[in-house]
Amino acid sequence: MQTSVIAHRGASADRPENTLTAFELAYSYGAHGIETDVHLTKDRIPVLIHDPTVDRVTQSTGYIKDFTYNELKTLDIGSWYDPEYTDQRLLTLDQFLSWIHDKPLTIHLELKTAKFNYPEIEKIVIEKLKSFNLENRTTISSFNAHSLVTVKQLNPFIKTALLTNHYSQSVHKRVKEYKVDGVHLKFRALTPSVVKTIQKEHYIGVFTVNDSKKINQCYKLNCDIIMTDNVPLALQLREEYEH
Ligand code: G3P
Ligand code: MG
Repeated sequence: MQTSVIAHRGASADRPENTLTAFELAYSYGAHGIETDVHLTKDRIPVLIHDPTVDRVTQSTGYIKDFTYNELKTLDIGSWYDPEYTDQRLLTLDQFLSWIHDKPLTIHLELKTAKFNYPEIEKIVIEKLKSFNLENRTTISSFNAHSLVTVKQLNPFIKTALLTNHYSQSVHKRVKEYKVDGVHLKFRALTPSVVKTIQKEHYIGVFTVNDSKKINQCYKLNCDIIMTDNVPLALQLREEYEH
């Protein structure tokens, strides 16, 4: 099977991350899927943003969990990247699913539950997926294995993937125990033997590979998916790799 190219936070090398314009560009580049990050607002609305605070990508400060969505929805999340993107607003998961549902893209939702546990985020996200009938092309990933166990308890058919920065015996044991479908590994931990071990029972994804050397290494090792900010480069190398 050929490696799928997943746009990490959208086409985030060329557009402000996790915005509609980044997702649209990734789609027009021909990415196979989109990765994005999910937090919960104070009024339990899932929103797409990487950090637990708005500090880095808006002119405001504070934790997502302390704002209602109404308080966040007017914030400009694009101009930190370039003034050209001053019209970009924080997306809710609903808005994202509504945009993606008629496009042939896989969906990779990373639950950012490592710092805060966001009560019932798994249930809320699964309900949203169900309302758009998108459970079968979504993978839910997290560094927090408890979130993944909860997802499987709520809906065993939704794919899950454990995010990890390293792959040891203990991670291997946890991967089996938590019944995840895949492992998303940080590139620096990638070795031929780790790929072999993981692929005996799971699929392997690699994050975040942006330069030719790393991307080619993932292709060489036959990784199942890669997460990249640089979709055009990854697609071009993938084509070259085939020939
Ligand atoms: O899904 C892989 C990757 O997104 C994990 O790291 O910090 O970019 O969300 P981060
Ligand atoms: Mg992420």
